[in-house]
Amino acid sequence: MKIKTSDIVMSAVAPKQYPEEGLPEIALAGRSNVGKSSLINTILNRKKLARVSSSPGKTRTLNFYLINKEFHLVDLPGYGYARVSKGEKSSWGKMLETYLSNRPNLYEVVLLIDIRHEPSEQDQQMYQWIRHYGYGTIVVATKSDKIARSQHQKHFKMIRDTLGMSPEDRLIPISSLKKLGIEQLWGALEDIFVE
Ligand code: GTP
Ligand code: MG
Repeated sequence: MKIKTSDIVMSAVAPKQYPEEGLPEIALAGRSNVGKSSLINTILNRKKLARVSSSPGKTRTLNFYLINKEFHLVDLPGYGYARVSKGEKSSWGKMLETYLSNRPNLYEVVLLIDIRHEPSEQDQQMYQWIRHYGYGTIVVATKSDKIARSQHQKHFKMIRDTLGMSPEDRLIPISSLKKLGIEQLWGALEDIFVE
């Protein structure tokens, strides 16, 4: 995909703040610190469009990025971050659920999993849930630079087995640090628009 323009258009906490044009949306889900905001910068070839932090819990709103004035990428708040209050956790959960369960122009929810680790209980729940809504045919394994290439297949199998992915679902390794896997991911995302 050739990126001509990319801009943040809204940080939303409630439906009335979501963009109204009805453009297609692709959302990125995953636990805090997995690399969602980094991935947005990487695939858009921008350095600081999405805010990145080494401490988890950085993204706390639904951030809508407009690409080529044609579609939105949506950076979602991460789950599984221990150092927030119960009340805050439940309000994030509701914010996510409100968005994911009732958004006709949401085309796909891509789940991000750290390539190094077996998907957690919460990752598995998230995957089940997005599958239930008909999403989740693309999973991204982030931080692929953190393990040797020779270990990739073993880790892919662990992620596929733990999530219970179908063989036809795509698992795409990405490194935002080394800028690897970007074209493969764009290829998969473009397929979503034509399907
Ligand atoms: P929340 O906003 O808290 O949900 O986190 P996030 O999923 O948006 O993670 P973010 O992109 O802020 O990245 C978290 C940390 O992981 C940062 O320190 C990044 O520099 C690092 N990181 C992200 N992607 C990669 C990668 O591909 N390789 C390596 N080595 N580090 C990465
Ligand atoms: Mg983030």
